[in-house]
Amino acid sequence: MRIQVCADAAVACAEAAAIVIGAVRAKPDAVLGLATGRSPIGVYARMRQAYAAGEVSFRRATAVNLDEYAGLKADDPSSFAAFMRRELYAGVDFREAGIHIPDGMAADLAAECARYDGVLNAVGTRDVQVLGIGANGHIGFNEPGEKLSAGTHVVRLTEETRAANAADFPSLGEVPTHAVTMGVGDILKARTIVLVAFGPAKAEAIRSALRGPVATGCPGSLLQLHPDVRVFLDPEAARQLE
Ligand code: GLP
Repeated sequence: MRIQVCADAAVACAEAAAIVIGAVRAKPDAVLGLATGRSPIGVYARMRQAYAAGEVSFRRATAVNLDEYAGLKADDPSSFAAFMRRELYAGVDFREAGIHIPDGMAADLAAECARYDGVLNAVGTRDVQVLGIGANGHIGFNEPGEKLSAGTHVVRLTEETRAANAADFPSLGEVPTHAVTMGVGDILKARTIVLVAFGPAKAEAIRSALRGPVATGCPGSLLQLHPDVRVFLDPEAARQLE
């Protein structure tokens, strides 16, 4: 694991984006695992800039997103599908067929999880997985608990996570209670994992994920088992690391 404490989030996101952009330049049909949340917004902004400047094309690349809320339509502005369109896809040149995200509206969510695992198998090993981390240590929507799942599954969101994401919804009551997420096993299959985290609210999660025991109570700690994780932090998120 390589940990880089950057001057600020903008610098950290530019460094993280350079890994993603470099991977696609080296291998135009690269498979990218992508995350939602505030943390990677600067990564996606830099990817859009690089595309606009003609430095990279995503035309032959594939994007697979980590997760989606259950019960939100893809065109609901609070959905992760809408977030990804706003922050990245509308500004770069992925083919529509090269973009994958779980369908939170599927009538049979168990079948949707199986379908998404099929998608992950079909697209092949992700070259780079972009990741954020929740304040409670969740990655994707794999919440802390006694057990973690390997493959795509339905999760019940913790009240802490619902509250943390409430700003993206008209009210807390409208934050879905469930989501479909890639499992921790799926996440760890990526060749390279790029984790970004910023601000004091992430300091404790970063400490326990990077320095604590590998334990299901902090899903991010499973990243310690992966051979190529690059972590980009601002000083606030890094402040509990010695
Ligand atoms: C979200 C996502 C995660 C993300 C995390 C932190 O709900 N499911 O993929 O890493 O919570 O989000 P943020 O970056 O906004 O703090």
